[in-house]
Amino acid sequence: MSIAPHGGKLVDRLLKGEDLAKASKRALALPRIVVDAYTAFDIDGIAKGIFSPLTGFMGEAAARRVLDTMYLRDGLPWTIPILLAVDQATGDGLAVGGDVAIEDDLGAVVAILHLAEKFSMDHAYIAEKVYRTTDLEHPGVAYTMSLGPVFLAGDLDVLKAREIEFQEYNLTPRETRAAFEARGWKRIVAFQTRNPVHRAHEYLQKVAMEICDGLLLHPLMGTTKSDDIPGDVRMACYTTILDIYYPKNHAMLSLMPVNMRYAGPREAIMHAIIRKNYGCTHFIVGRDHAGVGNYYGSYDAHYIFDEFEPGEMGITPLFFEHSFFCRACGNMASIKTCPHDKSNHVFLSGTKVRDMLKAGEVPPVEFTRPEVAKVLIAWAQGAGD
Ligand code: ADX
Repeated sequence: MSIAPHGGKLVDRLLKGEDLAKASKRALALPRIVVDAYTAFDIDGIAKGIFSPLTGFMGEAAARRVLDTMYLRDGLPWTIPILLAVDQATGDGLAVGGDVAIEDDLGAVVAILHLAEKFSMDHAYIAEKVYRTTDLEHPGVAYTMSLGPVFLAGDLDVLKAREIEFQEYNLTPRETRAAFEARGWKRIVAFQTRNPVHRAHEYLQKVAMEICDGLLLHPLMGTTKSDDIPGDVRMACYTTILDIYYPKNHAMLSLMPVNMRYAGPREAIMHAIIRKNYGCTHFIVGRDHAGVGNYYGSYDAHYIFDEFEPGEMGITPLFFEHSFFCRACGNMASIKTCPHDKSNHVFLSGTKVRDMLKAGEVPPVEFTRPEVAKVLIAWAQGAGD
């Protein structure tokens, strides 16, 4: 039997057949709001059960409870509110109790919101709780502070799933669950990433693979900040490394169409819950998970799991220390397994790696697989500024 989704039931808000035809027609006559790509991805997350048990955008009581206590009203852990914000004039023009058509950033009417509530909430309070800072340099804070003042809440009926690049890898939670079952995997470890797979990532994954039946390499492909490595480049890195260095019967690649929030600890919990919905039993949390800049301590994303009762999360987190290649050990290690001095450890800063790639230099094999480096060099030189 596979692992239960968060809240026990995998949500499905995507209309089909006759219901879809009727709703699509009805949507044309409804008041309409236009949302950005970020919100469109959130709608997709609700539609497919990626955010189970959520069935729509959160109301004030649920959002405050999530912000203040990290639980939903029914006592389930949840750390980041899923909100829909609009400007004042748009909000004023909508009637609670009515339906609203939602058009996405690509010009398609993608959903109908059953507007149950309109409310306002201090954006700085949201930012402080979710990101532990109100510094506008933080990309998640900047996004939150830019939101309109009126929040709209209510259940969604979704007319259209969002298609992304490499759609054939965009498996829904139902599809990953079926894929695991077809492979006979019972213990499945998920790996979240917004980067190419470097040797440290590979090490974490392979240690976890030793105690699980299979790896779900599950890169995030919703919106990311502009200086993150683009999805198509990362995709080329993932397929390359999987082909050469991973056994096909114990590893699979699928994309996660969810926005990056850079919320560190709170996002680590959200990432774990989402992977549980995808049918994974284990989830890797390494150093500075979902972090950005210096806003979070290296292991804050580990400590936050201690704030919940054991078993409450329903998925097993696997915590990893900062890992590196040690030349004296002759292998990947961490301070838990390596007795040698730091001078033996291969460490390269992100800036250093980018400079090397731009100059066409292959970073040391202890840091990245040369085949992955080749993909990154082609991109860095093509995109060079
Ligand atoms: S993240 O924003 O998705 O967390 P990234 O893709 O860099 O960023 O990391 C993916 C996962 O690998 C996260 O769990 C992160 O904590 C972990 N990680 C990245 N680099 C290291 C490292 N050198 N040692 C240990 N864990 C790491």
